[in-house]
Amino acid sequence: MLTRKDFIQKSLEYNLFFARIMKEHMIFIESGLLIIDSSLVLEGENLKESFEGILKETVTLANGAVSRALLNSNELVTDFTLESEKITENLTGICINKDITKAELELVSNSFFIYTQGLEEELKKLNARAINLVKEVIKYKEKILEKLLKCNMFANLYPTLVDHIMREAKYYLKSLEALQRREEPVKDVLENQIFRDTIMKEHAQFVRGLLDPKEVELFNTADDFVKSFEELIEITKKAGPKDIPKITKMALEDTIEIRDFKLQGTEGLIDCQIQVIAYPLLADHILREANRYIRILESYR
Ligand SMILES: [Fe+2]
Ligand SMILES: [Fe+2]
Repeated sequence: MLTRKDFIQKSLEYNLFFARIMKEHMIFIESGLLIIDSSLVLEGENLKESFEGILKETVTLANGAVSRALLNSNELVTDFTLESEKITENLTGICINKDITKAELELVSNSFFIYTQGLEEELKKLNARAINLVKEVIKYKEKILEKLLKCNMFANLYPTLVDHIMREAKYYLKSLEALQRREEPVKDVLENQIFRDTIMKEHAQFVRGLLDPKEVELFNTADDFVKSFEELIEITKKAGPKDIPKITKMALEDTIEIRDFKLQGTEGLIDCQIQVIAYPLLADHILREANRYIRILESYR
């Protein structure tokens, strides 16, 4: 059973991280759709705006209440997020609310913060709204994935990418439902690591698949990451609770390496140094997902 402080802090953490992730997924889908699917673009646009609403409210409630470790992890926003948003908005024409990002960059942690019953009630309501919205997002992603798999639509989106972002949405939903029951969102450390190692492996696969054919060196580096995460996943599947420290250390090493690769990629995209079918926000997004995994792995040690 989570204490009031834990419930408040974890609700803030999950919504700060995932509401941004969800609205960015909508940007990725929108930018991959063609004019024939303009109704799906509008649907995605509405979902994006709804999540911006959730994120904005969460940022207001979070000030002072969140931990310093969360703010320092660069999983909510990085030094590149704002610039990535500006460039991505200019390149795609998709509106991105940058005021939320500016407010997030200003968030502070206050060790004297008082966790009131009123705040607990507000977060219960916010979680409930986020749950309804994530369910809609899952349906939307399922609809697109089904069309793609049945060859009923063409989009510049890998089916594996749509499946990947759907799994991330389902993870958010499961976590929020656990929080509403006052339970820890993550129960099985190794199962959670397999989920996240798979996410990291797929990020490397997406990078590999989006690079210009002339970017041979980056292609090979991305491919090496795919192989090392595949190996790690196989080892983790065979591991038991006593192996957690060893497995965590291995996952941490691989994730720090891929994080540095993503960081360089984000800088490279901002400075137009890499030829790839992507824009900076996509790179910054997967960078934040790695930063979050690193913080979580460090907490298991
Ligand atoms: Fe994502
Ligand atoms: Fe991801």
